[in-house]
Amino acid sequence: MDGVNSMTGNAPDLQAFAEVARRHGALLYVDDAHGFGVIGERSPHEPSPYGLRGNSVVRYADESYDGLVLVGGFSKSYSSLLAFVACPTAIKNLLKVAAPPYLYSGPSPVASLASTLAGFEVNERKGDLLRADLYRMTRRVLDALAELGAATPNRSGLPIIEVPLADHTQIDEVGRFLFERGIYVTLAAYPLVPKDEVGFRVQLTAVNTDAEIDRLIEALELLSDRGELRLKSEATS
Ligand SMILES: Cc1ncc(COP(=O)(O)O)c(C=O)c1O
Repeated sequence: MDGVNSMTGNAPDLQAFAEVARRHGALLYVDDAHGFGVIGERSPHEPSPYGLRGNSVVRYADESYDGLVLVGGFSKSYSSLLAFVACPTAIKNLLKVAAPPYLYSGPSPVASLASTLAGFEVNERKGDLLRADLYRMTRRVLDALAELGAATPNRSGLPIIEVPLADHTQIDEVGRFLFERGIYVTLAAYPLVPKDEVGFRVQLTAVNTDAEIDRLIEALELLSDRGELRLKSEATS
């Protein structure tokens, strides 16, 4: 299963899934490519509801790694070509002799290792402050959508914000409208997604500025005025 979902931006109830898996003697496999580096262990002193340290969905849900395999990648929050598996020792020993990619792939590029180490250093020094700022900017966009009455599946406050369209045939035009205003989003067009889920996905990052968020909100307001955004009252999901 996904950790933080790549489209909705929501995290699963991991404790509930882990409990079901353990009850049935099953291994729970979680891919948190999108949560790693953003959400992490909870604390009464956390500067944002993302938790601390960005150490992923298992710590965020206060779960253990018993009977659980966590995979995460560095291609998102760390912008490096690298990934990891966290798993029980018996699984690790099996993977080391039975997983073809582990046996036959070349090593991770040195440049990726170096950029990840540099990323760890940034994370250690100011990761929680960067995440608090990311949360604040994300909140601005979510609040603006709420004010416009526009739908979004995001209930988490995490920085993946999908905005469904009122009319799926408008996706090219809406994408171009945003691009011409210097706003790059991911388009989810039919048949990649069902027609009633067509829309665009905004991904905020810690290097976005408030001026950029202003520009995004202005564009969302213009799209809303033109009736392009699905209204919350009509949302199907
Ligand atoms: C859930 C999930 N896992 C893995 C990946 C792939 O990550 P990478 O490009 O680092 O292999 C993606 C890509 O977006 C993803 O959404």
